[in-house]
Amino acid sequence: MGIEGLRFVITGSATGIGAATARVAASKGARVMVSDLNDELGRAVAGEINAAGGVAAYTHCDVTDPEQVEALMATTAEAYGGIDVLHNNAGIHETGLAPAEQCGLEGMPLEVFKKVVEVNAVAPWICSKAALPYLKKSDWPSIINAASTGSQSAYPNNSAYGTSKGGIRLQTQNLAVDLAAYGIRVNCYGPTAIATDMVTDFVKQSDDPAAFEKALISTSLIPRLGLPSEVGELVCFLAGREAGFINGAYILIDGGSLAWRGTVEQLGME
Ligand SMILES: NC(=O)c1ccc[n+]([C@@H]2O[C@H](COP(=O)([O-])OP(=O)(O)OC[C@H]3O[C@@H](n4cnc5c(N)ncnc54)[C@H](O)[C@@H]3O)[C@@H](O)[C@H]2O)c1
Repeated sequence: MGIEGLRFVITGSATGIGAATARVAASKGARVMVSDLNDELGRAVAGEINAAGGVAAYTHCDVTDPEQVEALMATTAEAYGGIDVLHNNAGIHETGLAPAEQCGLEGMPLEVFKKVVEVNAVAPWICSKAALPYLKKSDWPSIINAASTGSQSAYPNNSAYGTSKGGIRLQTQNLAVDLAAYGIRVNCYGPTAIATDMVTDFVKQSDDPAAFEKALISTSLIPRLGLPSEVGELVCFLAGREAGFINGAYILIDGGSLAWRGTVEQLGME
């Protein structure tokens, strides 16, 4: 049951949600290929999992480079005898690439917009295509994409990210259709602010970071940042043997922030 024995590839898993998902998946008996641009942190995540009795390895991969992506899939299949789960997690936000004043429409260089869309929406397609021959041979195959609440709602200084996350959400549905005949499920999820470097960077670009962080969680019915491990648990559920009837889905993991149109101040929960 669960994900016991499944073979995961997790992109961008040296930090944040990807690293947390690697740890959670390994703790549930999955075999995990950690991969990232940051070799030092990526190797450390794999080493920590192995030291705790799990099974993990590390491979460098820039998800925008089709050759590196092909090599990542081949290396994983060689290490574990195949691939069952591709978690397209690697992602970037414009505030990680440019100062705040360059993240609105007027100031943003075209290269920044293109890079965000390339990493967040084009690269998952490259990875899914490269993983396909292996997933076709799996008896419990799925692809899980990182969307965002930004795939359905706007934020300030977020136009590239929003475009990319709206795109990956629809790409999920389209690939679910294309791959249905192979029995490959394709799902995605939409977190709101999760406590990772990406959110720290987003908060830091504000003139008043404390007020901005408070505003970020002000509509959440669970008024705190989400934990990376909470997203990891969802990914493992979606990959697991209990989720066999979930396909083409977008699952919110947002503390209820998009369930209504108010702020927690109104509920006396500030
Ligand atoms: N943190 C949040 O609040 C939040 C909310 C919604 C969605 N997400 C999504 O979750 C995913 C993970 O986000 P996170 O918060 O853990 O971010 P993070 O910045 O902590 O981690 C992202 C990882 O991706 C890696 N990466 C970046 N570009 C890459 C590339 N070209 N090739 C390979 N790896 C690359 C980075 O090195 C880093 O380790 C992203 O897709 C993000 O958009 C995050």
